[in-house]
Amino acid sequence: MTAATTTVAFFNQNPAPGLTVRDVIEGQTAAQLVVAADDWGWWATLLNGDSIAPTSGIQHAVTDGLVRAGFLNQRGHRYQLTHAGHDIAKNRGFIRVSTRGWEPTFRQLATCADQSHIPAATEPGEVSRGCTDISRRRPEILRGIGKAIATAGPGCTVDLGCAGAGRVLALAALAPEERFVGVDIEAEVIAAAAAEVRDAGLADRITVLPGSVQPEASEPAWLAAIDRDAVTTAMSFFLLHQLASDGGGIAAVLREWMRWFPNLRRFVIGDGYLLEAPQWSGQPWFSPTYEIYHTITGVRLWTKEEYEAAFTELGWTITHSFDDHTMLVTSILERAA
Ligand SMILES: C[S@@+](CC[C@H](N)C(=O)[O-])C[C@H]1O[C@@H](n2cnc3c(N)ncnc32)[C@H](O)[C@@H]1O
Repeated sequence: MTAATTTVAFFNQNPAPGLTVRDVIEGQTAAQLVVAADDWGWWATLLNGDSIAPTSGIQHAVTDGLVRAGFLNQRGHRYQLTHAGHDIAKNRGFIRVSTRGWEPTFRQLATCADQSHIPAATEPGEVSRGCTDISRRRPEILRGIGKAIATAGPGCTVDLGCAGAGRVLALAALAPEERFVGVDIEAEVIAAAAAEVRDAGLADRITVLPGSVQPEASEPAWLAAIDRDAVTTAMSFFLLHQLASDGGGIAAVLREWMRWFPNLRRFVIGDGYLLEAPQWSGQPWFSPTYEIYHTITGVRLWTKEEYEAAFTELGWTITHSFDDHTMLVTSILERAA
């Protein structure tokens, strides 16, 4: 018997544990309660070290569910985070994106059984807010990017697919001399970001524009509205895999961005890498969800090797790399010497 057939025989007799009925039903309910509590600002309060005190009947019912799920425990009339609840609070962005942001796509499965793919249908505001929370869950990654930008001296950083400009706002505080441009295809998300930038008093340093960053035959209109020669850093988070699927691969997209910004000296690329395993339990959590969502929408995920081959082909060297849940990787790239 070969090693491969031995492995198959082993798994047939000892299948990796899958999800139970309880996991499926109670997990969904717990996710809804986690998002509701987030909408009320509870997780931010709790992570801050404060406790919460439900007042209405609805708040008591949600609290009770979160206690039964093991995320909160009671101290008198107030509630605080358990260890598991701390993990939930830190990861509420992932929970929001998958529960609310991607729900419209999964809902379409019912009517698309004969199609090979479903066009992604998202709740852009929910994806934007969830992604901002994902970026904030690892402040040291933002600090690493801010340090790289600030150390090189004043320049202009463009965030391609910036959503609600959460990263840009955080980086503006870390690199106080830097100017920023954020671009996103969702005009409503950009309008909300513009209001936040104005409210923060940063409109002189941060410009947010609606538009596509997908390389096409003709250049997008928003490029004419900025001083592209001034751009020294181009960042993009959780979008390159999608643009590369439509646009001929990772190197083709990066090459065009290099043409748009001739004085670029740094890329910061954050994306989910493809990690394959047959069982849900064989991958870091969120990997199966990420992979299944993208398979449904026909958007490719790319391996670490594919990203790195494209970086090398275009003459970029990874100077810093930060893993988040193994599969979400942020790379800071400088031009190879
Ligand atoms: C998964 S979200 C990531 C958001 C943000 N980069 C972050 O990580 O916090 C992908 C974002 O890309 C935007 N987007 C999708 N296609 C785009 C395109 N062709 N041009 C510009 N933005 C796009 C979406 O509106 C969404 O805000």
